Amino acid sequence: MSVGGEVRRVTTKTLAKMKELGEPIAMLTAYDFTTARLVDRAGIDMILVGDSAANVFCGHETTLPITLDQMIYHAQAVIRGVQRAMVVVDLPFLSFQVDPKEALRNAGRIMKETGAAAVKLEGGREMVETVHKIVAAGIPVMGHLGLTPQSINQFGTYQVRAKSETEAQRLIEDAKAVCDAGCFALVLEKIPATLGAEVSELLPIPTIGIGAGPQCDGQVLVVNDLLGLTESFHPRFVRRYLELGAQIQEAVSQFVQDVRKRRFPTQDESY
Ligand code: KIV
Repeated sequence: MSVGGEVRRVTTKTLAKMKELGEPIAMLTAYDFTTARLVDRAGIDMILVGDSAANVFCGHETTLPITLDQMIYHAQAVIRGVQRAMVVVDLPFLSFQVDPKEALRNAGRIMKETGAAAVKLEGGREMVETVHKIVAAGIPVMGHLGLTPQSINQFGTYQVRAKSETEAQRLIEDAKAVCDAGCFALVLEKIPATLGAEVSELLPIPTIGIGAGPQCDGQVLVVNDLLGLTESFHPRFVRRYLELGAQIQEAVSQFVQDVRKRRFPTQDESY
């Protein structure tokens, strides 16, 4: 969308309107300037500077090691590449769980130092006071329920969450609680499609699914997965639109051969 040549930013208001009109919301992660610029130009509605940067950018096994300073560094790079999309930044592990005051201070750092439009945090009822506090300071908060990767050590497995009736009911109560606390949207990760549909129907705010079925109000993927850059991660919910990893490897191996055989650079590529 462009008004007088100026690109109109996606905001919380835009997303609320999209939910009202039944327009699906497209969201992807990004962790650097170049990718963020491409993703934004391609028309994505929201960009998440996810703590999945710990996995796909830094090579850690879980999202736990990434720090607030590292998230801010990634978010600053992303913001420089974005004109239209709404940029949301993950509050990393232990930056918001200790107490609501500390959570607000850290959410505030993200907003002040990056220029992002919102923060995201994992958790349900136990996060109500924290969500209230951050939202009361004027910072939009996105929730995240289902398979919340910061709790992986408690889950012990990356399998689908909320398959039992008890866990599904708990998730519904959590979704209502964070919504009532002021979240403007909610990520639902790796839960049965029927539950994704039920929560999306129930809540007045947009739900963004990742492995939560087609009836969520929007869909999010990790950009490295969509581009085929991740090697050993092939869950059912990922659609790989490219095999960029293989293409990059092939291009680099051609370069190596060209250098070794003195085919690069040519006269035309020299001064
Ligand atoms: O960090 C992340 O990439 C996420 C998405 C999976 C939603 O939280």
